[in-house]
Amino acid sequence: MFTTVLGSIQSKAPRRPVHSLVLWTGLTFFLVAASTYFLSQTRPAVDYFTHRQEEPAAANRTNPLLTKEGIDQFALDHAYPRLGESVNFTGLHQLCNSTKWQPNVYFACNHNAGGLMNVRNMVLNCIRYAIAAGVSGLVMPQMEVRDPVDLRHLRTGEYQSIGFLFDEPWFKEVMKENCGQMEVFDTIDDIPYSGYAMMPDLLNIQAIMEQPRGTKHGMLRNKKPWEFRSRFDKLIKSQNKRPTETSPVIVRLDDRTLFSFPPSFDPPSVLNSLGFTLDFRPDLSALANVIIDRVHKTLNASGNDPYIGLHLRSEPDAGKYWATWDQLANATISTAMNNEIKLVYVASGDTDGVANLTRKAAESGIKVLDKWNVLSDDEKEYLGPFRFDQQAIVDYLALLRSDRFVGSGQSSFSSQLLLRRELLANLTLTEEEKLAEPENVSRDQLAGPGRLGYWDMDWP
Ligand SMILES: *[C@@H]1O[C@H](CO)[C@@H](O)[C@H](O)[C@H]1NC(C)=O
Ligand SMILES: *[C@@H]1O[C@H](CO)[C@@H](O)[C@H](O)[C@H]1NC(C)=O
Ligand SMILES: *[C@@H]1O[C@H](CO)[C@@H](O)[C@H](O)[C@H]1NC(C)=O
Ligand SMILES: *[C@@H]1O[C@H](CO)[C@@H](O)[C@H](O)[C@H]1NC(C)=O
Ligand SMILES: *[C@@H]1O[C@H](CO)[C@@H](O)[C@H](O)[C@H]1NC(C)=O
Ligand SMILES: *[C@@H]1O[C@H](CO)[C@@H](O)[C@H](O)[C@H]1NC(C)=O
Ligand SMILES: *[C@@H]1O[C@H](CO)[C@@H](O)[C@H](O)[C@H]1NC(C)=O
Ligand SMILES: *[C@@H]1O[C@H](CO)[C@@H](O)[C@H](O)[C@H]1NC(C)=O
Repeated sequence: MFTTVLGSIQSKAPRRPVHSLVLWTGLTFFLVAASTYFLSQTRPAVDYFTHRQEEPAAANRTNPLLTKEGIDQFALDHAYPRLGESVNFTGLHQLCNSTKWQPNVYFACNHNAGGLMNVRNMVLNCIRYAIAAGVSGLVMPQMEVRDPVDLRHLRTGEYQSIGFLFDEPWFKEVMKENCGQMEVFDTIDDIPYSGYAMMPDLLNIQAIMEQPRGTKHGMLRNKKPWEFRSRFDKLIKSQNKRPTETSPVIVRLDDRTLFSFPPSFDPPSVLNSLGFTLDFRPDLSALANVIIDRVHKTLNASGNDPYIGLHLRSEPDAGKYWATWDQLANATISTAMNNEIKLVYVASGDTDGVANLTRKAAESGIKVLDKWNVLSDDEKEYLGPFRFDQQAIVDYLALLRSDRFVGSGQSSFSSQLLLRRELLANLTLTEEEKLAEPENVSRDQLAGPGRLGYWDMDWP
């Protein structure tokens, strides 16, 4: 659905202007969001999704999805065309073309941790800083996987390749094609002479930028991205030895890269394409596509029922000032009524909240679905054992493709969805279609106070 129109992804999309309204909104809610973010550093903001234990599979059922051939075929049948396939990466190509590269200096980023969208942001920032530094090689970023029992526990020491969430071959292919000056290595050991490498202490962006070492939201942000390169070069010069082929320098980023690189520093051609270097793994993308197709056929088997995507971020760990169940439910039901939509796809770990919403929505003739009541037994058996943030991929994509979206203003997951949906809408909707949209009724909304997503923090 997006492929035909994504072709000119960045040439048409203008740079986001800094409206004074946005600034005011930002200022007004700074304290609120800052405090919730600050909390999130010690008690991280967890985006919960339905994470039910599935009934054990029937003993006598053979599930083709549990074989390699079966799932590969399933992915092939349903995962394509992929979102990033027709993205214009020329901006990235030009950025890499105009970078001054330095030989024998490498980058590794292994401490990416948190919820799905936060890991994505950190990995993208790693890539962006690696290009800014002009390093000759990047080790495939890794991530630290959350504790499945206590999702607030981020630094578990359980490292995984980003293939845990993302499509590695795709990433390598895009980088090779558009930023070949920076070679991508699978592991640190693959770097030539890595055994003789100098490894400075974990690099903290705030330290190198000489910013206060804050953990608060907004404090992590690099205030002078244009100075990063000269400061990085100084760091390299300050090492005992000049980097050479047989004694390279491997720079490792620490875990403080979340929301560090301000995307608006880049021209729209880069800003609007960098995020597409990371695509989700094909098996879970395929499951999402199956869900989306089925939801569209819920009421009319031969039709294309519109649906609202709801990120019901009303779990008990949501901050005091976050959107409440009431606000999210109200926004969803009024959106449905105003647009004559009869279906809601919900992503939430708030099981009670979903049950209540299902009841309340039914009073208005609206049906509420989630991934578990759309997937078949075989598909559930495949998805069930995946970790929480992997399952979130399926929800993310189902919400991305919904006709309307309602989310929580303080959730980075909701905020990034809003951003990407806006980018895709800018590209897909014609001027007439935009004019045909009901006046002052936004397609998407974030309930509750404050909107994280308008702070130029994340890559669409
Ligand atoms: C891709 O982007 C480049 C640079 O921004 C632009 O010149 C070119 O026309 C774009 N290509 C397509 C097919 O839109
Ligand atoms: C979408 O287009 C509008 C209007 O041109 C613009 O203000 C906004 O920044 C664009 N959004 C994205 C995510 O590119
Ligand atoms: C399992 O299913 C097969 C084929 O449907 C059937 O022949 C067989 O009796 C079943 N076995 C059990 C233990 O139910
Ligand atoms: C990159 O640089 C090369 C050589 O200078 C040039 O041929 C090529 O057109 C450039 N590509 C882009 C996308 O600017
Ligand atoms: C179902 O969808 C088809 C195709 O859009 C349409 O022709 C038909 O009228 C719809 N049926 C109902 C009951 O809405
Ligand atoms: C939600 O809507 C109900 C009824 O329309 C209203 O009573 C309630 O105050 C609303 N709640 C919020 C938080 O807006
Ligand atoms: C759901 O509804 C029940 C009964 O009305 C209520 O006790 C409970 O607090 C509600 N839960 C949520 C999360 O709204
Ligand atoms: C839409 O908003 C504008 C500006 O706030 C206002 O002047 C206009 O009356 C609104 N239109 C409708 C249909 O509410």
